Amino acid sequence: MSEVTSNGNGARRRIHPGSGRRRAPAFPKGRQLDPAALSAVRDLLGARPRQRDFLIEYLHLIQDAEGFLKADRLQALAEEMRLPMAEVYEVASFYAHFDIVLDGEADPPPVTVRVCDSLSCEMAGARKLLEDLPGALGADVRVVRAPCMGRCDRAPAVEVGHRHVETATVEGVEHIVAGGHHHPDVPAYQDLEAYRAEGGYAVLTECRRTPDGGGRHRGVE
Ligand code: FES
Repeated sequence: MSEVTSNGNGARRRIHPGSGRRRAPAFPKGRQLDPAALSAVRDLLGARPRQRDFLIEYLHLIQDAEGFLKADRLQALAEEMRLPMAEVYEVASFYAHFDIVLDGEADPPPVTVRVCDSLSCEMAGARKLLEDLPGALGADVRVVRAPCMGRCDRAPAVEVGHRHVETATVEGVEHIVAGGHHHPDVPAYQDLEAYRAEGGYAVLTECRRTPDGGGRHRGVE
């Protein structure tokens, strides 16, 4: 039996996002492909190439369009991409942001709050957040555990939808949930063209151009 977690309405589910980091249960054998699911997946993929290296991108495509990944969509995607179902499931269950909905499970509520329960956040109060947030946020918000979000220096870290909350408190998370802004705030950044225009990758470019592979830059004669 894998991890069990609350889905915000008191129901218990067999897996939670990211559980594939720990184990990879197989699909039930003999499952029949649902033509409607196949049609839906084909519509979403359109003319995109059915190459296996696009698997994660296509999982995002389905999740963004439908809000979660139903098991029949995963099976249809596997069929469409000529991949084993187990491979599609393992990739989808590895990443915390993919919400797999197994047969018989209710669709998750529209808002999901993920609480990091890895070491730094655990030490900074994640367990208490996991206890208190479901009651504070109500049945329309799902609260689940999640693996490290790379914000260990600002623990405990929480994600409301795709918006990170650092040094999270119950009140702070409540405020962000109620505000409705659940998308990431992308900071201003230098794009590739601007970086190149300022001399970025100049040494790499020269290394590739020179016969000695840029040895003089490394002090190699
Ligand atoms: S341990 Fe929580 S963000 Fe890293």
